[in-house]
Amino acid sequence: MARGGTGSAPRVHANSDQPTIGIGDPMFGFTIAVIEQSDNPGFAVGDHVAGMSGWQDYAVSDGSDLRKIDPEVAPLSAHLGVLGMTGLTAWVGLTRIINPKPGGTLVVTAAAGAVGTAAAQIGKLRGYRVVGVAGGPEKSRHLLEDLGLDAAVDHKAADFAERLTDAVPDGIDTVYENVGASLFGALLPHLNPKAQLAIGGVMSQITRTQAFEGPGRLPDLLRAVVYKDLTIRGFSVPDHFDRYPEFLADLAPAAAQGRLHYSEHIIEGLENIPASFPEMFQGRVMGKMIAKIN
Ligand SMILES: NC(=O)c1ccc[n+]([C@@H]2O[C@H](COP(=O)([O-])OP(=O)(O)OC[C@H]3O[C@@H](n4cnc5c(N)ncnc54)[C@H](OP(=O)(O)O)[C@@H]3O)[C@@H](O)[C@H]2O)c1
Repeated sequence: MARGGTGSAPRVHANSDQPTIGIGDPMFGFTIAVIEQSDNPGFAVGDHVAGMSGWQDYAVSDGSDLRKIDPEVAPLSAHLGVLGMTGLTAWVGLTRIINPKPGGTLVVTAAAGAVGTAAAQIGKLRGYRVVGVAGGPEKSRHLLEDLGLDAAVDHKAADFAERLTDAVPDGIDTVYENVGASLFGALLPHLNPKAQLAIGGVMSQITRTQAFEGPGRLPDLLRAVVYKDLTIRGFSVPDHFDRYPEFLADLAPAAAQGRLHYSEHIIEGLENIPASFPEMFQGRVMGKMIAKIN
């Protein structure tokens, strides 16, 4: 039995690879928990584990969905963010989903978000020229000064298109996409031949339940796919959970040496989550939002 844990059988939502949360079910989510009782020789009382336990005080597991974590490597919260599923998502996108071409220009959208900050920094570690796209001047400052990106473009600025053009003078070779919709459309004309696009998320579409009815740029996209010989691949990170050891071997040293910056937005207490949670969908959070429930 682990403290902090998950509930009922998953039901897959039509617009997501994640299960629908039923009325009365615990909120779905990755957690760090502590083993309080164990009949499994692989887990001792007091061990810290990462898993999909969700927002509840206790959960029961046979251990197959738990991963032991070492609290000495980094603060516990980092195992939910840059060294957890969030960092793994960015790492898988840039190292397994596409064939990396270091030296070119990588553009990361929602670059000040949880996955975005990890993707942008992995890009820097891999030798890309990294351009981050984010909303607002404070996020642009963060990307340039704290993360050391080569350029930051504020998509809320009235002259966004001109700023983007200035930021990618040699075009775009690689994209790590978190947002979708109009931002993706803005990148399209700048893609170089044989550009590779890892589609990690479509945050702007995440709450949409109906088919998209506005004017689309699908014909432009398909034309670019053919004539620019683009590679576009999406992925679901649970399909790559077996890569955790490889990912940690690659990035944990950088985190321990302070070469991997990560911001956290901590909500203290279950009772404060309803008020803070929507901020994640309003672009008001930098880095990883984490709820500390006990
Ligand atoms: N493929 C996978 O298995 C996998 C795993 C984990 C996460 N994801 C996906 O990865 C993406 C990023 O996750 P995250 O945890 O990094 O998110 P996050 O930290 O909450 O970042 C989301 C950011 O997206 C930007 N955004 C732009 N347009 C938006 C819109 N219309 N609505 C809401 N946000 C908008 C906002 O930043 P700006 O205003 O600065 O642009 C916002 O802060 C999400 O789409 C998530 O679903 C995928």
